Amino acid sequence: MILESQNLCHFLYDLIRKHNQQNVWTEVDGERLFIVQNAKDADYVLRVNHKNYHKNMLWFRHTLGQTRLSEDGEAWKNRQQLTQPFFTHFDKEKLALISKKFTGQMINEVINKQGLTLDDSVLRKLSICILTKYYFGITVEELGINIDNLTRLMDYGSEFSIAAPGSANKHSIKSIMADLMELRVQVLQDLAIFRYGHFSDSPILQALIQADSAQTGIILEHELLALFTAGAETTASAIGWACYLLGRYPEIQHVLEEESAHAGHFDGYWEKLDHAVKLESFISESLRLYPPVPVISRCAVQNDRIGDEVIDAGSKIAVSLVGIAYDMQTHKNPWVPNLEEALNNKLDKTQGRYSAFSFGPRVCGGKGFAMVELLSVMDTVCNKVHVETLDSGVPNFHWKSKMLYRGGFPVSFHLR
Ligand code: HEM
Repeated sequence: MILESQNLCHFLYDLIRKHNQQNVWTEVDGERLFIVQNAKDADYVLRVNHKNYHKNMLWFRHTLGQTRLSEDGEAWKNRQQLTQPFFTHFDKEKLALISKKFTGQMINEVINKQGLTLDDSVLRKLSICILTKYYFGITVEELGINIDNLTRLMDYGSEFSIAAPGSANKHSIKSIMADLMELRVQVLQDLAIFRYGHFSDSPILQALIQADSAQTGIILEHELLALFTAGAETTASAIGWACYLLGRYPEIQHVLEEESAHAGHFDGYWEKLDHAVKLESFISESLRLYPPVPVISRCAVQNDRIGDEVIDAGSKIAVSLVGIAYDMQTHKNPWVPNLEEALNNKLDKTQGRYSAFSFGPRVCGGKGFAMVELLSVMDTVCNKVHVETLDSGVPNFHWKSKMLYRGGFPVSFHLR
């Protein structure tokens, strides 16, 4: 089988139908690739024997620079110890309120446009504004930073993140590199405002500025880019898919609207969200059906075995988070959302609340942050609007460092 990286998502969904839970060898852009499709082997690669499976993110390093996302060993550990405390310990009430406020603005914007699609750019603006408002007290928009340039740069990183371009498209590499260099200079210049602006009350920024030196190799602008890629692009995709799912399943939308409207009285907004068990199950199901990061890329350091398969040193491994989530043994009907199953099997690793964030030491650093943000955004959506979609078939997937709907999510909002 030969796969081109732009068809990656459709390919992964075809694969689970044909070879549910089975690992397969394939070829992407001329390079051999071993695709892991079940939770047991994924756990082996990502946790049990993680030391033998390094990150395969050369293109991310080319585009974003060395960051916590792309590095292994000491270079990763130093960066992880630097930023993780800020992602683990955060103010849930503050984040929930910020997310609610920006979601309200996003809804007004979409309704005023009277569009039938939920644009990637609207979603991206929402998630990056939430992230930057929370951590820096100001949004990238207020700072005048061009979000589209940021996104284009991040897209370059993902374009070849599963396999470097093979000989077929070598001729286009020159023009890609020229554009990439220019874009990179522009984005890094834009982000320097965080270095020279005065955000003295942002603890994560202060920590990054302090660590930024030739000795550590840590560069503030690079780590900011990694934060925006990891923390905003992913949630933007998750919000788009959750809205799409609401439109596809009006009966679920009704259940969530009821839960939100009749939640009773709580001391704070976060407390209300913390009790929204149906909404939490829905988000888990949305992350299971449409994981924003559908695949994780690794490279074997030494010869090994995964299941019955011999893996040579240097082999490229892709752990399909789609494959794990559509486990036909665990899920009665893995193709449709099932809130009850998500609630009853809360601890099962094939549930979206786990599988979409990966396993082991390289598990998503912002998993807790993402869940609070998603709960608040989707509670606001369920409360304020009725979501509709005209689409009733297989989604038209689009791969751009995260999984999206080609041409924007086909959903419309109608005020309640
Ligand atoms: C629905 C939203 C999100 C999803 C589905 C998601 C998923 C993931 C996945 C699958 C990885 C592992 C990638 C790999 O090993 O190659 C990852 C890593 C990471 N994520 Fe997330 N993420 C989300 C939101 C966030 C947010 C909001 C933040 C920060 C506030 C964040 C911070 C990170 C960091 C720092 C890493 C790198 C972890 C490490 O290697 O040390 N993520 N994420």
